Amino acid sequence: MKDDFYQYQAQTTPYAPGMEIDHAKGNYIYDQQGRRYLDMVAGVSALPLGHCHPVIVAAIKKQVDKYMHVMVYGEYAQDPSVQLCKKIASLLPAPLETTYLVNSGTEAIEAAMKLARSVTGRSQIIAMKKAYHGNTMGSLSLMDYEERKAPYRPLLPDITHINFNCLQDLKWITTSTAAVIIESIQGGAGFKIPSKIWMQELSKRCKDMGALLLIDEIQPGIGRTGSMFYFMQHQIVPDMVITGKGLAGGLPIGALTASREHMSHFKQSPMLGHITTFGGHPVIAAAALATLTEIEQGGYMNEMAVKESRFRESLQHPAIREVRGKGLMLAALLPDDTYTALIVEECRRRGVIFFLLLYEKRAIRITPPYSISLSEIDYACTILLEVIESFYAPAP
Ligand SMILES: Cc1ncc(COP(=O)(O)O)c(C=O)c1O
Repeated sequence: MKDDFYQYQAQTTPYAPGMEIDHAKGNYIYDQQGRRYLDMVAGVSALPLGHCHPVIVAAIKKQVDKYMHVMVYGEYAQDPSVQLCKKIASLLPAPLETTYLVNSGTEAIEAAMKLARSVTGRSQIIAMKKAYHGNTMGSLSLMDYEERKAPYRPLLPDITHINFNCLQDLKWITTSTAAVIIESIQGGAGFKIPSKIWMQELSKRCKDMGALLLIDEIQPGIGRTGSMFYFMQHQIVPDMVITGKGLAGGLPIGALTASREHMSHFKQSPMLGHITTFGGHPVIAAAALATLTEIEQGGYMNEMAVKESRFRESLQHPAIREVRGKGLMLAALLPDDTYTALIVEECRRRGVIFFLLLYEKRAIRITPPYSISLSEIDYACTILLEVIESFYAPAP
């Protein structure tokens, strides 16, 4: 399978390990050679409840037996999608009550940019330096990573980049600004947490200037930081919330939530302002509804602080300069980027999966399923520390 993987399936790096997957269950992935791996990445935050959670699998199977795709998005009332949108509304503060369902995070970002321009009649979008919002042309335009953008130019015009968590830079938000888009915790940049004062001043500045505040919760959202959405820990109410990744427990999804009034632009200014064939797919919506219900009722969010502390207590080593992030969205920062990829690879060889971040090359990504136990955390940290020690052993 590995040879066919490299030959026939498009690659994104020259270094893909091409691990040959057999099956995955709970917090573990099993390869075709019969080896078991403890998963500390959860499909890059896309599996909040781990692999093949029985409640999600049952919801999918039940829906598959009833109906799958029946019509393009937005025409017929399909119970799983309707219930999912209603559930999302119940989890967000007013007036965020109407959700547009799409197939991926980046599509939801595209929809958010379109909606912001349509609602405000303005074109400028302010994004953060070192942001990551996806890889379609619009989302790519929101990044300031020139090396990744250059081959695809021209991209969207009228995008301005300011510094994340920088009070002075808020002055660039003006009455010409349609929207400001942020990740509530910057992921690729190294799990950077904004200050409460910055979040609140940002929200105020947007309101004063009539600019919309768009919050990308695709990675921190759905309970990973101990609250359903991380922005809620800062007592602000944005104009749009974008979710995805873990929302459907391992199936592809993206969701844009806004007020009914704002969202109405997609149906009348112009009509069919945003359309998609598979968005709101009933099988995926059923999986998402089961995921949200299980996260809400399963008590997972109450355990986040304890699990975060366990990681922080365990990850003590002179070469770990900092553990960044919140809840189960954590990154261990090494002194430099020399060995990060090698350390991740060696951990995988020893049966524990960690991963890297997009921009912050010194970071080791730790985003396990919420179901990770304290003893599994201890085991994963022991392996990671042993491997770090082998690369950063103090000189004799
Ligand atoms: C913060 C953030 N926004 C957007 C995206 C894009 O989501 P997708 O890969 O589903 O298009 C990601 C994916 O990593 C993300 O982490």
